[in-house]
Amino acid sequence: MTEKKLRIVSGMRPTGRLHLGHKKGVLDNWLNLQKEQECLFFVADWHALTTDYAQPEIVGKTIWDMVIDWLAVGVDPNKSTIFIQSEVPEHAELHLLFSFMTPLPWLERVPTYKDQIEKLREKDLGTYGFLGYPLLQAADILMYQANGVPVGEDQVPHVELTREVARRFNHLYRKPDQPLFPEPESLLMPTAKMPGLDGQKMSKSYGNTIELAEEWKVTEKKVKTMPTDPARMRRDDPGTPEKCPVWDFHKTFSTEVEREELRDGCTSASIGCLDCKKVLLTHLEEELQPIRQRRADLVIHMDDVRDIVRSGNERARVLAGRTMDKVRRSLKMNYRV
Ligand code: TRP
Ligand code: SF4
Repeated sequence: MTEKKLRIVSGMRPTGRLHLGHKKGVLDNWLNLQKEQECLFFVADWHALTTDYAQPEIVGKTIWDMVIDWLAVGVDPNKSTIFIQSEVPEHAELHLLFSFMTPLPWLERVPTYKDQIEKLREKDLGTYGFLGYPLLQAADILMYQANGVPVGEDQVPHVELTREVARRFNHLYRKPDQPLFPEPESLLMPTAKMPGLDGQKMSKSYGNTIELAEEWKVTEKKVKTMPTDPARMRRDDPGTPEKCPVWDFHKTFSTEVEREELRDGCTSASIGCLDCKKVLLTHLEEELQPIRQRRADLVIHMDDVRDIVRSGNERARVLAGRTMDKVRRSLKMNYRV
């Protein structure tokens, strides 16, 4: 018996080069999902403009780097549809139609709204478009009648809003037994937050990342100069792994057996921090070098990369076109000639 595949939709804003935090936190989940389910992954370039409208050139600069990173880690265009949001203008039409029926308080109470306005004060996000950010996201998701949306914790309220919008649309415009939009579930990503080189969350704004595309020498140097438990001033001072950012990396990358040995070595001072870091570097090399090799191949075959996105755009447009036909019919827009 073959079960029907679930439809999965997820987007990422093009805001810069991807790093290990994206790989462990998001992309590994995409790779798992694409094995079993029907996935659509897209570049949320319009969403980037909601915050970076004053420097729109950033978007164009980072889109292709991001798509190359996706392909290099193994997002497979034969399994998943890869496309660019603005190449499927139906998203904007659905967003507009949703905007008529969405009560303002639904948007005003989304927690990311006030948070981000406060956090990004210098950007002046008191705009119409920024308020509508989660509604555009609802359009992205419902356009493909998605069943699941892989997201981080912070995005759960957006998926919740999407469910409310789906319910409201179905209630206003459809017969009770013929809903158009399924209510999608958040697929919370199981991986822990990948810490950065300094123990804080890995993030470009903290300058503590390992980028997927950087040279191995750079990664090596970053790891070798990572801070460790400050109690280990000298080689024979014992340490506590829990007080060390390197240990957080071992939790993600090393085996349990290795971790036990390293813990003994650290607490008894029988190994030095450099020995400990060498074990980590072996794992990082295994993880990163194949990605970097594929990346280098992709960069010299940009025509192929563009073709992949071109055909992804086309496929997304076909699906979006079908949904919009049904949406327009639901709204009795049959006066079109
Ligand atoms: N808001 C998401 C983020 O910042 C990006 C996004 C846009 C998205 N549209 C989406 C994610 C649709 C999932 C589904 O990460
Ligand atoms: Fe950290 Fe490893 Fe050094 Fe212990 S031995 S302090 S875990 S780097």
